[in-house]
Amino acid sequence: MEYVKLSAEGGVGILTIARPAALNALNDQVIRELDQVLDSVDLQQIRCLIVTGEGEKAFVAGADIGQMRGLTKEQGEAFGKLGNDVFRKLETLPIPTVAAVCGFALGGGCELAMSCDIRLCSETAVFGQPEVGLGITPGFGGTQRMARLIGPGRAKELLYTARKVKAPEALSIGLVQGVYPVEQLMEEARKLAQRIAGNAPIAVRAVKKAVNDGLQADMDQAIVIEEKLFGSCFETQDQKNAMGAFVEKRKPEPFVNC
Ligand code: HXC
Repeated sequence: MEYVKLSAEGGVGILTIARPAALNALNDQVIRELDQVLDSVDLQQIRCLIVTGEGEKAFVAGADIGQMRGLTKEQGEAFGKLGNDVFRKLETLPIPTVAAVCGFALGGGCELAMSCDIRLCSETAVFGQPEVGLGITPGFGGTQRMARLIGPGRAKELLYTARKVKAPEALSIGLVQGVYPVEQLMEEARKLAQRIAGNAPIAVRAVKKAVNDGLQADMDQAIVIEEKLFGSCFETQDQKNAMGAFVEKRKPEPFVNC
């Protein structure tokens, strides 16, 4: 892989978009590599995935404008579908994902971050969907995920104006869940990922699925989704061990089910 790297340590994976000369902008090669790297994530080993960009200046400065410039209508749709399919794969990855955003997360970069479960950022982070200033709409899910994450009114204000949002505002509107000095960001992302990775993997994945699938259903259907996933946990050794340890007042055994 030229532009997307994956490393793993102690149950935590780190996926890095690495095209720093173009501020990690997403051309079709980067997106295809991201697709392949997501397919290669070993779910037996990796229990939480951090998604980040190389360097301190940008997480991802958007889809590659030079590459998009000459697209036809059909090619534009195809490029949107390419990114949408991969970002949906990231969003529905069975394990939790944490975006660690340092610097610019614009256009496709903001959309990439919004496809993760949780977003942490540096004090220098800048988010935004500048597309309408370029004569296009967001095309990698921004119109949909931003409205779901921060509500339609706030999202429309940002999407219509192309206004950039700095880290403190991103925190206050719920676009990110934590802001840290640049030098602390990755350590905080690792701490969070390790804490998640320390819980029963099957249960954590079931929570992710329950929240994601439930948000797309009405409440009557959503609670049934939860019931089924809750029930499925009782087929795991981890549930038996952990509850047994509590009742018998002994130290729980490490989780084994992946
Ligand atoms: C291609 C990009 C790029 C991008 C930066 N670069 N962003 N190349 N596509 N989105 C390249 C620059 O051309 C330059 O290359 C190098 O990265 C450094 O960028 P500079 O502009 O020189 O840096 P700076 O002056 O510090 O400005 C940083 C910036 C600016 C504010 C982030 O680069 C910027 O505005 N970028 C575009 C942001 C944007 O509009 N994103 C949304 C794109 S639309 P050279 O070779 O000159 O050194 C989008 C749609 C998604 O994402 C949906 C598609 C379906």
